[in-house]
Amino acid sequence: MPTLFEPLTQRSVTLRNRIGVSPMCTYMSEACDGLATPWHVAHVGARAIGGAGLVMTEATAVLPEGRITPNDLGIWSDAHADAMGRMAEAIRTGGAVPAIQLAHAGRKASTYRPWGTKGRGVVPEAEGGWPAFGPTDTPFREGDPAPQPLDETGLERVIDAFATAARRAVEVGFEVIEVHAAHGYLLHSFLSPLVNTRSDGWGGDYAGRTRLLREVVRAVRETVSETLPVWVRVSATDAHPDGWTPEDTVQLSRDLATLGVDLVDCSSGGAAPGARLESAPLHQVPFAEAVKAAGATASAAVGGITTAEEADAILREGRADVVLLGRAMLADPAWALHAARRLGVQTPWQEAYGWALAD
Ligand SMILES: Cc1cc2nc3c(=O)[nH]c(=O)nc-3n(C[C@H](O)[C@H](O)[C@H](O)COP(=O)(O)O)c2cc1C
Repeated sequence: MPTLFEPLTQRSVTLRNRIGVSPMCTYMSEACDGLATPWHVAHVGARAIGGAGLVMTEATAVLPEGRITPNDLGIWSDAHADAMGRMAEAIRTGGAVPAIQLAHAGRKASTYRPWGTKGRGVVPEAEGGWPAFGPTDTPFREGDPAPQPLDETGLERVIDAFATAARRAVEVGFEVIEVHAAHGYLLHSFLSPLVNTRSDGWGGDYAGRTRLLREVVRAVRETVSETLPVWVRVSATDAHPDGWTPEDTVQLSRDLATLGVDLVDCSSGGAAPGARLESAPLHQVPFAEAVKAAGATASAAVGGITTAEEADAILREGRADVVLLGRAMLADPAWALHAARRLGVQTPWQEAYGWALAD
């Protein structure tokens, strides 16, 4: 059996294989209220029926001001959670484990969706935008409105919001909770020395800069049943000489393990304009490999994984425990079933699709 198709059990949750759909914003909440629609349900359901072991929702905002765009999903109320629950149900019905990525966009909030026609960059408040929050008042892009630095009350609100969102997510059927601490959004912006120049207890050295993430994870872990895994997505490097390093990530994986984190999902970049790696096939796998080698948590590799053979090799060679695929899953919702076929694995297609295999 190729390692790609070996089941993986974490706590009480078993993935039928090690293929996950990476979180991907679709910016399809059209009414601009953060509610999941039948489109979102169909989108994740198709990928579950398509054979993935785990399907993760797109970044789902824990607070309205934590959306990247007005078209993002949110889970800041019970009504939002109910709508997300229909996505969880569709994923489970398709045979995959429902996972949710909980997010706060921080100083990168309130932008137009990238493919929209309404505009580019920051949405002005007059057009439905909102003030952003960050570690400091420095905007992501020079010339953009200054974010409000989060004070103690604001930080407590964020920590509580992640915990409440996690509780709601579990109540509506999600079985893996991923905290989004990558790509320059709020939690990453606190981790990164490129952004977090605070001199209070929430900045400064490694301990200060990791404090918000550690507090969020502690609160989430207290809320989520011991039987369910908690994952954290990080930008494993800022790809900048003065930034967060892969060594910081390894240390963080050890610290997060003591708080009950089961897996570190290793992405990169996004803290500041230009602070990113050149995209290339498998370019982030070494970060997942280093986290796994440290032995504190499991790791997920993501980025430029496109073929069944390379996905299987990453796992077989012990470089990660899970592979997450993004764009390849947009292109082919049945990527996992096609991978099974390529690798000669007898994975039953749902009977209704059996005709697809007839020669
Ligand atoms: C359209 C799109 C939306 C994305 N949205 C998110 C997101 O919501 N959360 C996140 O952590 N990463 C997001 N990403 C990054 C992907 O999860 C993934 O890490 C990245 O695309 C690299 O994987 P790939 O080469 O398999 O596409 C997004 C990527 C794309 C292409």
